[in-house]
Amino acid sequence: MSHVLITGGSEGIGFELSKCFAEDGCDLIIAGRNAEKLQKAASCLEEQYHVHVRQIVIDLSLPQAAEKLYEEVSDTEISVLINNAGMGTAGEAWQISAEEDEKLIALNITALTVLTKLFLKDMLARNRGTIMNVASTGAFLPGPYIASYYASKAYVLSYTQALAEEVKNTGVHVCCLCPGPVSTGFYRKSGQKAPGTAMNAERCARYACRMMKEGKTVIIPGLLNRIAVKAPKGIAMRFVGRMKKRNLRKK
Ligand SMILES: NC(=O)c1ccc[n+]([C@@H]2O[C@H](COP(=O)([O-])OP(=O)(O)OC[C@H]3O[C@@H](n4cnc5c(N)ncnc54)[C@H](OP(=O)(O)O)[C@@H]3O)[C@@H](O)[C@H]2O)c1
Repeated sequence: MSHVLITGGSEGIGFELSKCFAEDGCDLIIAGRNAEKLQKAASCLEEQYHVHVRQIVIDLSLPQAAEKLYEEVSDTEISVLINNAGMGTAGEAWQISAEEDEKLIALNITALTVLTKLFLKDMLARNRGTIMNVASTGAFLPGPYIASYYASKAYVLSYTQALAEEVKNTGVHVCCLCPGPVSTGFYRKSGQKAPGTAMNAERCARYACRMMKEGKTVIIPGLLNRIAVKAPKGIAMRFVGRMKKRNLRKK
């Protein structure tokens, strides 16, 4: 029996993605650090959609965590992998501690890369499967006052687009979800204020699943976001910088 594996499937965009797959009748594996949150999400999904949801408590920012997660699910065929778990840091780059940025890189970049690599190998051997990596519209430009987060997402977008090209003549599909602002706990956790224009997480996830099924490589929910990523980089970067700086001053 194949399963959909969603990192960070216990809340926010990951939970809404879990709901979309559960609605289609897929059994799920959701991973995150907080056992209580995972349990709550799993119960809700099982009750509502009558699917089986396995929970894995893991901190993917720790060394070898991606390998450990892969090992833990080695008894199951993973038909869809969603590398969704991510974190942000905000502020003047020099003021953000090296530890915070190292954690961000370990989660947003290292764990995502290792999980992609390990599961892609199996999917290619079976000639079927899908990997969705979650980046951001921030992947399209440098982000003053949110520098390492935007840079990490630029890596995710570039890496995923390259892999999509590598596997294009196989039965495996690799795609990158690039949401604009979405109203989840993400902003509070990364010390930012969510913009009033933030999209509803359910809308974001539903669009992502629909586009994934249509075989799209880069998925950007929201018309305004699709227009915004086409803006000249210099202008867009200065706009983001001014907005983030104002946000920091308010804090
Ligand atoms: N919200 C936005 O505006 C926005 C916009 C663009 C892109 N994104 C991206 O979308 C993804 C999901 O964001 P979200 O807004 O849904 O965030 P969220 O509501 O904060 O949810 C994050 C999820 O990831 C898990 N997680 C966080 N750190 C983890 C770690 N070290 N190891 C394992 N799991 C971890 C969390 O569970 P635990 O806390 O229990 O570990 C939670 O389930 C992220 O990659 C984010 O960068 C978000």
